[in-house]
Amino acid sequence: MSKQRKLKLGATITGVGTSKYTWRNPEIPGDASVDFDYYAGQALQAEEGKFDFVFIVDSTYITEKSAPHYLNRLEPLTVLSALGAVTSKIGLVGTLTASFTQPFTVARQFASLDHISSGRAGWNVVTTGLEGAARNYSRDEHYAHDERYRIAEEHLEVVRGLWDSWEDDAFTRDKSTGQFFDPSKLHALNHKGKHFSVQGPLNIARSQQGQPVIFQAGGSDDGRNLAAKSANAIFTGHESIKEAKAFYQDIKTRAAAYGRASEEILVFPGISPIIGRTEEEAESKYQAIAGLVTLEDALDQLGRPFTYHDFKQYPLDEPFPDLGDLGSNSYRSSTDRIKRIAKEENLTLRQTALRFATPRSSFVGTPEQIADTVQQWFEEGAADGFIIHTGIPSVLKDFVELVVPILQERGIYREEYESDTLRGNLGLEIPVNRYTKQRIAQA
Ligand SMILES: Cc1cc2nc3c(=O)[nH]c(=O)nc-3n(C[C@H](O)[C@H](O)[C@H](O)COP(=O)(O)O)c2cc1C
Repeated sequence: MSKQRKLKLGATITGVGTSKYTWRNPEIPGDASVDFDYYAGQALQAEEGKFDFVFIVDSTYITEKSAPHYLNRLEPLTVLSALGAVTSKIGLVGTLTASFTQPFTVARQFASLDHISSGRAGWNVVTTGLEGAARNYSRDEHYAHDERYRIAEEHLEVVRGLWDSWEDDAFTRDKSTGQFFDPSKLHALNHKGKHFSVQGPLNIARSQQGQPVIFQAGGSDDGRNLAAKSANAIFTGHESIKEAKAFYQDIKTRAAAYGRASEEILVFPGISPIIGRTEEEAESKYQAIAGLVTLEDALDQLGRPFTYHDFKQYPLDEPFPDLGDLGSNSYRSSTDRIKRIAKEENLTLRQTALRFATPRSSFVGTPEQIADTVQQWFEEGAADGFIIHTGIPSVLKDFVELVVPILQERGIYREEYESDTLRGNLGLEIPVNRYTKQRIAQA
């Protein structure tokens, strides 16, 4: 190993929050999810902390039970493009579903973001867990879980092919000869597959990072395989280091089976740190958050990964109901996990709802304790980096001002950005254009 491995960090910006109670916190402006200045403030704060990227989550189906951020928020690529203009180093990662989009459009959008930001774009490829989203995209039913992963795989293959339409030196722009581009360096994709038929070429060149960085967040078997085969990074969520290590090992093993090196796929557990200047302060902050949760909100929130299943129909103090297959065509890994934990821990419905509404993670404590846990997960093979769910603005501020300096002091986190591109900062290689590669191989 030539270079010392460094911890990577990302931050989600979720305005008024993806939990039903977060928006009531006095720190959060009531319109934060549609206020560009709020996003910009958070992104600049994360950039001050030398974070690798900010991340804008997305989904495309709401009901009256949805949490406030989902109800009224800015579309990721639009907000990321604007963030590109007010930041200079931090990566800009957004979710876009492969289930209801066309690869040609997606390739253009992310390539444009990559140009606007000079090589800082990242795409979180999701397949959409909310089945109701199908009805917003002219379908009665969502695709079956395995099919949507097949669609995503082909979609991503086409997008990547389109991103290579132009070799890096294709645009000669020679005003004296009148040659704008070298036609031998322009390539049509001519893709004809099961789900997509795309001729190409794409009408935008590659940026300085070659191609946007690919993230993936599905934790089912199919999701893990897609990430292991094709993504540069995977998001995940675990409460304990034991679970996180098993996941980490699994992803690296699957990647190796696809002929990929361990450092080609980065694993990012999502964490919601609660930081106090003392242990007691951290604990009382946790209790204050937990205290805001009503049982009704917790039941609604529990329903979301099951596509807003109505849990109020079951008795609260009896064992968690037997749901059969329910949830396995939605957020499969999340719903499997909820069912498994409820069973293993013998929880009632009430206990299950409250447990998942305010999960108690290992990341509650003083800045030193949080830094210790971050370092332990990083060094013991549970994480390559973390995606911080910031929730309220002071969480990000405290993380940047109190935890980051400790991580820097310990030499596991950067003092300065290594690069101007997201790939450069994440330590990922710039992919050589496939046609240039062929040309070199044939020479
Ligand atoms: C940190 C993190 C971020 C995620 N962000 C999104 C998102 O923005 N949009 C979305 O639809 N799903 C998101 N997911 C959920 C996954 O994409 C996926 O739908 C879910 O894990 C179920 O996947 P599975 O069916 O493969 O188990 C996220 C998951 C994690 C762990």
